[in-house]
Amino acid sequence: MDGDLKATFDLAVEHGINLFDTADSYGTGRLNGQSERLLGNFIRAIPRGRRVGDDIVIATKFAAYPWRLTPGQFVKACEASLDRMQLKQIGIGQLHWSTANYAPLQERALWDGLVAMYEKGLVRAVGVSNYGPKQLLKIYDYLKLRGVPLSSAQVQFSLLSYGDDQIEIKEICDSLGITLIAYSPLGLGMLTGKYTQSNLPSGPRQILPKLDPLLSTLKEIAQKSGKTTSQVAINWCIYKGAIPIPGVKSVRQAEENLGALGWRLKPDEILWLESAAKESPGKMIQNVFQTR
Ligand SMILES: NC(=O)c1ccc[n+]([C@@H]2O[C@H](COP(=O)([O-])OP(=O)(O)OC[C@H]3O[C@@H](n4cnc5c(N)ncnc54)[C@H](OP(=O)(O)O)[C@@H]3O)[C@@H](O)[C@H]2O)c1
Repeated sequence: MDGDLKATFDLAVEHGINLFDTADSYGTGRLNGQSERLLGNFIRAIPRGRRVGDDIVIATKFAAYPWRLTPGQFVKACEASLDRMQLKQIGIGQLHWSTANYAPLQERALWDGLVAMYEKGLVRAVGVSNYGPKQLLKIYDYLKLRGVPLSSAQVQFSLLSYGDDQIEIKEICDSLGITLIAYSPLGLGMLTGKYTQSNLPSGPRQILPKLDPLLSTLKEIAQKSGKTTSQVAINWCIYKGAIPIPGVKSVRQAEENLGALGWRLKPDEILWLESAAKESPGKMIQNVFQTR
């Protein structure tokens, strides 16, 4: 299993992928922190000659656990992530979510934690995740005041979750020079076209029957352009100016998703996809931690 993941990572690096997203909360129980540990192992094992870019950016996310109440605790969390990945510096240190919805008083500790990590040089850049337009503007202003540039904002962003908030967040990002990182760009696999009514797993993918005409439009465009539906769905994110971070579990999936690069959907195809998405009654459930 870890061998498969390593082969998947190596393939991505060979093809020039240099941004890998993880989190200190990925991996539960005995495997707590395992995602960061594995990524660290994979990076150290990259043979020098095979490195395409001169650098690999690891973006990790720090959970706003209720017991992380001071900036110092976030710095400790960052040091623990560095330790697990055996790195001296993290590429982008991100707040995994805002506590504004349920513990607004904790929020300042998160922000000051980011500032402290940045000032100590533990992270090269800072970012946020699951911040809505209002909170995004607030943290941007606060960090600016503290002399820390906000580098990225990670949100659920795909043809299945392209609503008013995503549009507003993207506009804010563009105007403030923040990079939008699109998570779940394949709608948890629903935009790959592999699920049908008969093999539908329980949980959030139950909206699949309500995804026509989007899925049929994706298929039609994919067929016409000699691509797969996954490639079209990821290419849509790139067209919108976001950096998609599709989750991949195998070399085969990585190979297919790499085919989303190096070409561009046409403007009329974008309009067609977006109007099909609007017409489809199913929408992805937004992350419970997503703020306004
Ligand atoms: N900031 C946050 O709160 C947050 C939340 C969620 C995710 N994320 C980040 O975003 C990344 C991606 O999101 P995600 O995994 O939730 O959703 P996703 O990228 O929309 O879907 C990924 C899943 O689709 C399937 N898949 C991928 N490529 C495929 C292909 N070519 N053909 C068929 N199936 C394919 C795989 O699952 P199966 O093989 O199991 O079908 C894979 O795990 C995560 O790894 C994480 O780093 C961040």
